[in-house]
Amino acid sequence: MLYGVFSDVHSNLEALTAVLDYFDDLGVEGYICCGDLVGYGPDPVACLERIRALKNLSLIVGNHDLATIGRLELDWFNQYARAAVLWTQMQLSAGDRLFLEGLTARLETKQFTLAHGTPRNPPEEYLLSAGQFRDNVPHVRTWPLFVGHSHMPLLFRFADAERLQVEAHFLEEREEVLPREADGRSAPVALNPGSVGQPRDQDRRAACALYDSTKGTFRVFRLPYDVAAVQAKIRAVGLPEYLALRLDYGQ
Ligand SMILES: [Fe+2]
Repeated sequence: MLYGVFSDVHSNLEALTAVLDYFDDLGVEGYICCGDLVGYGPDPVACLERIRALKNLSLIVGNHDLATIGRLELDWFNQYARAAVLWTQMQLSAGDRLFLEGLTARLETKQFTLAHGTPRNPPEEYLLSAGQFRDNVPHVRTWPLFVGHSHMPLLFRFADAERLQVEAHFLEEREEVLPREADGRSAPVALNPGSVGQPRDQDRRAACALYDSTKGTFRVFRLPYDVAAVQAKIRAVGLPEYLALRLDYGQ
C-alpha cells in the first residue's frame, strides 16, 4: 500500500495543497500525519478541513494542537509560537476543537507507529540523537516509527545486527531508505518526513514523504509553493512578522 506521509502542517494551506495535490497525482491509498496541524500559520480552519476530508488517514496531535485546545502549558512556547496559539484559539469552531480533542498523541496500528516527538514523550521530546533513538526503542512494538516535531527529514536505525551503533542521518530529497529484515518485517527505524508548513533545514520547499508498505521503502520529496502568498496572509491577520520571514529561509 502506498502512503503519503506528512507532518507539521502548521496552518500553511498553500504548502498543504501542494503536498496533497502531489499525493493525489501519485495515487496514494492512505495518509499518515504526525501532528501539529495548526499553529504558526494563517489558515488553521482550512487546513483542518482538508486534513479531515482525507480517506484512510492515520493522524495524531502535536504540541501546538494540544496547546490550542488547552491541553498543554504555553510556558514551553516562545513568544511567536505563543502568539500564534492564542490567535488560532480564536479562529477554531467548537467542531474544530472537538476534532482535535478526539485525537491521541501516539498511535499504533498493525503496520506502523506514530508519535509527534517520541514514543516515550509524544508531544514534547525532539528525536534528534542516536541516544534518544536507543532509549525510545523499548517504547515501540510496531515498526516503522513515524515522527515529526523537529521539522527536519531524518532517519534513525541500528547500523549493525548487534545493535551496537545507531545510524542517524538527514534524508536527502528522493533518497530511498528502509530495507526490511530477512523475515519481511521492518527493523527498528524512525522516520521523519520533515515539515509541510515550516521546514527548518534551510530549504523553504514543503517536505513530505511516500511510504510503500509493500516494497518497504520510504522516500522524502520537496515541493515548491507560493511562500509570498502565505507571508501576505500572516501579515494581513496580524501574526508576528518573524513567522512570515522564517518561511523565506526554511528556518
Ligand atoms: Fe511543529
